[in-house]
Amino acid sequence: MKRFINWLVVVALVLINMVHVGHAAKYNDLEAIKDKGKIVMGTSPDFPPFEWLVIEDGEQKVAGIDADLSKLIAEELGVELVIEEMTFDALIESVKIGKIDMSLAGMTYTKDRAKQVDFSDVYYDADSKIIMLADADEEKFKTIEDLADQRIGVQRGTIQHELIHELLPDAEIISMKSNIDVIEGLKTDRIDAVVLEGIVTDEFIAAHKGAIKAMENIEVSSEEEGNAVIVAKGNQELLEVINKVIKDAKESGELDEIVKRNLEKSGDEE
Ligand code: ARG
Repeated sequence: MKRFINWLVVVALVLINMVHVGHAAKYNDLEAIKDKGKIVMGTSPDFPPFEWLVIEDGEQKVAGIDADLSKLIAEELGVELVIEEMTFDALIESVKIGKIDMSLAGMTYTKDRAKQVDFSDVYYDADSKIIMLADADEEKFKTIEDLADQRIGVQRGTIQHELIHELLPDAEIISMKSNIDVIEGLKTDRIDAVVLEGIVTDEFIAAHKGAIKAMENIEVSSEEEGNAVIVAKGNQELLEVINKVIKDAKESGELDEIVKRNLEKSGDEE
């Protein structure tokens, strides 16, 4: 009898577990999103022209390429778009646990990340650059090795963070949650050089007119594979819709339009 009860308990536990796992995987699938009538997109709005904060009609909102692309995805699904702000280093975990349905955050594909979440097709090709104060000596800082004894600022959890750690293992790396703080650190002499994505670098430089500059001579090598949308692992149907939206927007020229429009906007407002 005792054995039978033990056996029953095991079967019950296995069943409970199956239901639980099934539920977790299903919670953010296409059907669930359509049932909810909304798709929740998470992002870290410190990354113009991909995402930054604007005030519209007295309310703070996320603007940018990623917000516009998310709108297209929501339209294709026929649901409302809800954007949640969080720090960049919280996005992958939030997608994994289903707190958000997808993330568009200028997130670059990496093999490590792809073990945890699924990536869409690439919608933007990225590279990295170094920014320093406008009066930094270009004769002194010509290669990445010349930065070895400098304080280097990066956004926590980004590929730039990983990259500089690999290139200069002994350098003092200062990682912060937001790029806004990293740039502020540079301007207030707590950081000597910042590693940031190329197109984003241009936006920050335009916004801080004359105070900071890109070190064009310093090549930051990496094998970056471009920015893409992430969804929970196995969320195949949602991923297919997202890939269709990206493909259509590329083919129709709408994606180029979105990039152009946001480059103009973020340059004005940042
Ligand atoms: N592309 C880089 C990465 O994937 C940086 C992205 C930072 N994005 C942001 N919204 N702050 O690691």
